[in-house]
Amino acid sequence: MRLILLGAPGAGKGTQAAFICQKYGIPQISTGDMLRAAVKAGTPLGLQAKQVMEAGGLVSDDLIIDLVKERIAQPDCVNGFLFDGFPRTIPQADAMREAGVRIDYVLEIDVPFEAIIERMSGRRVHPASGRTYHIKYNPPKVEGKDDVTGEDLIQRDDDKEETVRKRLQVYADQTRPLVDYYRDWAVRDPLNAPKYRSISGLGTVEKITERVFAALRD
Ligand code: AP5
Ligand code: ZN
Repeated sequence: MRLILLGAPGAGKGTQAAFICQKYGIPQISTGDMLRAAVKAGTPLGLQAKQVMEAGGLVSDDLIIDLVKERIAQPDCVNGFLFDGFPRTIPQADAMREAGVRIDYVLEIDVPFEAIIERMSGRRVHPASGRTYHIKYNPPKVEGKDDVTGEDLIQRDDDKEETVRKRLQVYADQTRPLVDYYRDWAVRDPLNAPKYRSISGLGTVEKITERVFAALRD
């Protein structure tokens, strides 16, 4: 299974990715998680990405495309993978197509922008694993601690309201066009294009997981 999760910042991509990856036994390739790890480790990539991420902009296509190509060449990707937060621009999508990377499904999680601000302000993450919680909607068993390791949860640097608004604008301008890109491709060339599915991301986490699996069944 090879799939792309498409959706605005805070739509719940990371949250649902965990369930999908567990069910299909595939790795979650989150370019956001990879970049945050690079920033933390102070690698050359991290140094280039830090300011752009804090400002809510996008890291350059060339850097991201190289990062992903290297990642999907790893042995754990032979049975598939899930892209979370990639591709995010038309050139990134074109690069995968030109490289002949076949994708089975593009799944869009659709959440109105108004619901997103609240989700982001309550988000807490376990940086080492990428596990994601929400103080109200998806709380950890012990406040401020990761369920699996018991380590501290943190708030992301880019979850300030002002930065979230900027990220939503960047999504609308640069990433949202991918909805039509994949939808049109699926109509034009159904044999080669990924299947396109769109579900509502409003409701409980469990309810959305049910929708995700129903969408991937056919
Ligand atoms: P990235 O990490 O990809 O961030 P994003 O796309 O903005 O998405 P998020 O991680 O914010 O949201 P999500 O959809 O995963 O939601 P989550 O499940 O956490 O990218 C960060 C930055 O890196 C970018 O801004 C850019 O600078 C750079 N970058 C990354 N990839 C790039 C690329 N390809 N090209 C260029 N630059 C790139 O959920 C959000 C919250 O809501 C959580 O608290 C969660 O618990 C809660 N929640 C989840 N589901 C529900 C529900 N059903 N009801 C209520 N609350 C819920
Ligand atoms: Zn995420």
